[in-house]
Amino acid sequence: KKYKIAVIVGSLRKESFNLKTAKALMAIAPESLSLELLDIADLPMFNEDLEATPPKEWVAFRKQIIAADGLLFLTPEYNRSVPGVLKNAIDVGSRPYGQNSWDGKPAAIVSVSIGNISGFGANHHLRQSLVFVNVNTMAQPEAYIGGAAALFDDNGKLTDDSTKDFLKNFMGAFEKWVDTHAKQ
Ligand code: FNR
Repeated sequence: KKYKIAVIVGSLRKESFNLKTAKALMAIAPESLSLELLDIADLPMFNEDLEATPPKEWVAFRKQIIAADGLLFLTPEYNRSVPGVLKNAIDVGSRPYGQNSWDGKPAAIVSVSIGNISGFGANHHLRQSLVFVNVNTMAQPEAYIGGAAALFDDNGKLTDDSTKDFLKNFMGAFEKWVDTHAKQ
């Protein structure tokens, strides 16, 4: 069986270490997981006044979430929390009331930071929101990638072997998580 995994990256910059990590995960993902990057850059900021006539970007994003069997989040930490752009995507996907696109999806989180705390604050703030939108986030193994600036080469390729091994193992666990918890 092949599972469709929506990959959501909480950084919009071209040279993002989170994006580079997402690409590394796409390269090492197990056979049964088909990873697809979703674009959250152009989602208009959530505003309840727009709910009656939602922007087309919201509608398309919600459809992509609903079509996914699982979710893989990569998040930087901004001021000890998730970047606003990622929170906005979660809010957009959770509405309109009673039509939460995230409902019941299995997920995993990887936080990537240039610092030593490895995005712990963002990783856990993200878990808090995901609990409320009824996403089933894998508890273990956790993935905190710190010191990210030293892990990639000039072409953006992940070159650190121990990180590669760790992420391979992480994706193996996520494959089992998705297989157990995806809606049949
Ligand atoms: C940061 N950064 C940061 N890092 C961290 O470990 N904890 C933090 O609270 C913050 N806060 C923070 C706020 C803002 C506004 C910015 C722009 C940055 C640094 C951050 O980890 C670094 O910029 C990463 O490279 C961001 O991830 P991407 O863009 O490389 O994926």
